[in-house]
Amino acid sequence: MSQTVLVTGGAGFIGSNFVHMLVELRPDWRIVNFDALTYAGNLENLAAVEGNAQYTFVHGDVRKEDDVERAFAAAKGSGRLIVVHFAAESHVDRSILSGLPFVTTNIAGTQVLLDAARRHGIAGLLSRGHAARAELALFRQQGRERSPRPRRGAHARP
Ligand SMILES: NC(=O)c1ccc[n+]([C@@H]2O[C@H](COP(=O)([O-])OP(=O)(O)OC[C@H]3O[C@@H](n4cnc5c(N)ncnc54)[C@H](O)[C@@H]3O)[C@@H](O)[C@H]2O)c1
Repeated sequence: MSQTVLVTGGAGFIGSNFVHMLVELRPDWRIVNFDALTYAGNLENLAAVEGNAQYTFVHGDVRKEDDVERAFAAAKGSGRLIVVHFAAESHVDRSILSGLPFVTTNIAGTQVLLDAARRHGIAGLLSRGHAARAELALFRQQGRERSPRPRRGAHARP
């Protein structure tokens, strides 16, 4: 396969739509989904791609270097590697109850990922808002205003 995309947070809202989009538009790319499966992550969002030869799931926490290394190991292969970073504490209302997970995941976890990306000499990294906008841009290129899959399951927000 010509290219590999390591998607963090691929079981979440934007990440799962992004994985579906890649499967649809880039059938020759490998996709590695790295996700901790928090309250916001739900593999049911990806049931349709489970078993697809181009797709691999790695369960792990972006804050943990060993977990991130496992994800990079799974993504290793021929061709370019791109990292698209969606793993995040994104439910702002929860930050009012407890802010620390937001700092450790969104800031420290991103740094762990960036350090690993540098070690592995990756071709490119898109993060959070940038990646979300890139997804929207790709869907617009496809003549769609919004990604097609609604939120569902554990991953629906109040
Ligand atoms: N939803 C939007 O409309 C929107 C718009 C613009 C930008 N964004 C940004 O895009 C990113 C993704 O948004 P979303 O709506 O898909 O979020 P989401 O909460 O639906 O999904 C986040 C995913 O990250 C995973 N995750 C959380 N902590 C983790 C950790 N420590 N290690 C590994 N995985 C972890 C969760 O299990 C979940 O699958 C966020 O940074 C968000 O701020 C979202």
